[in-house]
Amino acid sequence: MKTADKLLIRALKGEALKSPPIWLMRQAGRYLPEYRGTRAAAGSFLELCYNPVLATEVTLQPIRRFGFDAAILFSDILVVADALGQKVSFEEGRGPVLEALKDGKDLAQLGLGRFHEHLGPVYETVSRIRAALPPETALIGFAGAPWTVASYMIEGGGSRDFAKVKQWAYGHPESFGLLIDLLIEAVVDHLAYQVEAGADGVQLFDSWAGILPEEQLFHWSLDPMVRIAKDLRERHPKVPIVAFPRAVGPAALMYRRPDTFAALSIDTGIGAHWAAKELQPHICVQGNLDPIMLLAGGEAMEREATRILGKLGHGSFVFNLGHGVVPQTPPDNVARLVEIVRNWKPGA
Ligand code: CP3
Repeated sequence: MKTADKLLIRALKGEALKSPPIWLMRQAGRYLPEYRGTRAAAGSFLELCYNPVLATEVTLQPIRRFGFDAAILFSDILVVADALGQKVSFEEGRGPVLEALKDGKDLAQLGLGRFHEHLGPVYETVSRIRAALPPETALIGFAGAPWTVASYMIEGGGSRDFAKVKQWAYGHPESFGLLIDLLIEAVVDHLAYQVEAGADGVQLFDSWAGILPEEQLFHWSLDPMVRIAKDLRERHPKVPIVAFPRAVGPAALMYRRPDTFAALSIDTGIGAHWAAKELQPHICVQGNLDPIMLLAGGEAMEREATRILGKLGHGSFVFNLGHGVVPQTPPDNVARLVEIVRNWKPGA
């Protein structure tokens, strides 16, 4: 099946479908016993990301189980920092750990010299997934947006207040801008290579956009994402780009740019009703079930999923979560959610 005919791509191109397509952020992961098995066989999380056979396997696991409309490449946003030359590791129970960049001088150690070679296994994974997927299933490539990746690179991992990255960005915008420029170039290459290997569309994750005040948000989150979209479109004019600026509230309106992004992925904090009124007439909306509703399951989940479908299911819409599936989620709840979305009828 051609890219343009797949349900997910039709929705991203603005079509209102009778039954909206569904996939879930972090649909491959620790909540699946088969993922935990493959993960143990791979060794570390990064070894799994760089092993094309095993990364393909974990990408396909949720497709086999639930028949989602899209697979998302199994990888991580931090492989870009790793490929630029920063030391990255994932520690059990701690999440990502990076050798933090301290000032402008540390930027000199980073570069695009080995980028493509380092990420070769990721692009091989994309083509293996492509070859193994059912023809109607779309394949989504992705990257972290520069602000979020820079946050991890400067904080050295997760953070409570993001004081280091903010201080750098606010106090030394010229040198911070150099890091953002490097990330823009790296992300455009990374996404273009994924498209060339067989991705039907791409998503930009700006998970930490919501911690920035408005003017800084424009400068360090929106502007880099727009530049990435423009540069990628020059190389691949038709590729749909989904923007996920998490937790930005009504500033989501700044990202409502149908000439630049095909869709906006909305977190749980944005009301479905508001999104239907303010966003959906202009751009495809993706989201926004609370991942903890999926964990809770039962009637509460059914009611909430049906409510979201009632608000957004009449326009161009991709059913998803407001953020990733959490590890404690019972797989049966996911199966039930897919059933609810598949059986929903507009007007119901
Ligand atoms: O969605 C998918 O199924 C595709 C795979 C995917 C992963 N990470 C796998 C992963 C995607 C799209 C990501 C994106 C990502 N990675 C983001 C943006 C989205 C978001 O969640 O906000 C961020 C911020 C990261 C960085 C990252 N990677 C963190 C903070 C962590 C630790 C938290 C955790 O859940 O352990 C990771 C690890 C990670 N990335 C895991 C998976 C499946 C868990 C690793 C394991 O198996 O132990």
